[in-house]
Amino acid sequence: MTIKIDHFALISPRANAADEGAIIRMSQRTRELRALGHDVVALTIGEPDFDTPLNIRDAAKDAMDKGFTHYSPVAGIPELREAIAEKLLVENGLNYRPSEIVLANGTKQAINNSVLSLIGPDDEVIILAPYWVSYEGSVKFAQGTPVVLRSNVEEGYKVPVARIAAAITAKTKLIILNSPCNPTGAVWTRAELEEIAVLVRAHPQLMVLSDEIYEYILFDGEMVSFGSLPGMLERTITLNGFSKGFAMTGWRLGYAAAPEPIAKAMGRMQSIISAGANQFVQRAAITALKGPRDDVEKMRVQYKARRDLVLKGLRAIDGVKIADIPGTFYAFPDVSAYLGKHAGNHLIETTDQLCDWLLEKHGVSIVPGTAFGAPGSVRLSFAASEMDLKKALTRIAQGLRELI
Ligand SMILES: Cc1ncc(COP(=O)(O)O)c(C=O)c1O
Repeated sequence: MTIKIDHFALISPRANAADEGAIIRMSQRTRELRALGHDVVALTIGEPDFDTPLNIRDAAKDAMDKGFTHYSPVAGIPELREAIAEKLLVENGLNYRPSEIVLANGTKQAINNSVLSLIGPDDEVIILAPYWVSYEGSVKFAQGTPVVLRSNVEEGYKVPVARIAAAITAKTKLIILNSPCNPTGAVWTRAELEEIAVLVRAHPQLMVLSDEIYEYILFDGEMVSFGSLPGMLERTITLNGFSKGFAMTGWRLGYAAAPEPIAKAMGRMQSIISAGANQFVQRAAITALKGPRDDVEKMRVQYKARRDLVLKGLRAIDGVKIADIPGTFYAFPDVSAYLGKHAGNHLIETTDQLCDWLLEKHGVSIVPGTAFGAPGSVRLSFAASEMDLKKALTRIAQGLRELI
């Protein structure tokens, strides 16, 4: 007699708690509808629509041809760690040593390396909503407690520092900052970051994880690295990567820079999970950092034109509230005025339902704010062609107009 195995019962609580989330769900449904022949404009995924600059691709091919196809040191090749240390010093005012830099297979992994290195069962992590979806998952994965603080469109989607101060307890070990921010495009000013630095100085157990992956996609204001503020280098893990600014999402390369004991712990996490990042990708990344930046700038200029287009389009829709978008390629309009309305007989109570309806009936795929801890808003990625953006804006406006 064969015994029937219940494989679901075998899944660990940690794996059960890991949620793939709304972005994956919307993307999957978009693919299904397209396969059925529907015309769907997808503004779901946070990924540049440009190809990786040619000089970087050439550098990778060259590295492969030269035989850089073997395992790399776990924390990354020395030449790249040096190039990153130099970049962080020159561009960001951060004086990390190469030994304090740990490469990873994507910034996502660098985040997990950081969180796993610091956070355990009794630790609290302050996450500022709207937040990038993975932070909460990482903290839960490390069995820590996410403490989510919310902000709204009127606050420019930045949690006022007094609210952060009020949330700090003896168990708070980490605050996660992300400027420019996915999903809101908000950029924290030097003065605002200085206020957070005051809090950090007052709490010796506290570290800051500063995710700066969108630094090259900045339209207004100044890029300030948190670790460059007086006394903050030793209190900060700086995260960055090649996916967004250099249009290298599929290459999977990111890094964290941190005081050496933390960097060493991150290396141990990296070693357990995946070993060193891809060798020829690391060689190409040196070219990305040291080579000309014309393509990076060209992409930024195009994102800026699209930002203007999207802001104008969204501002023209009655009831939609939208803050300025000084950076990133995301718009995060507050559409809560449309919740509680009807699409025909169908009551739309949540942004999940609103996004499902816009996708199914109007052929535009965007992400509900629930994925980012902000249930009244939706995220559109404007890393898409002007034609698609215009089409999407028309469809969203039309869809919202139909709600009564
Ligand atoms: C804020 C933020 N941090 C990190 C990442 C991860 O980037 P990577 O592709 O390097 O893993 C993303 C990707 O969407 C992001 O939006």
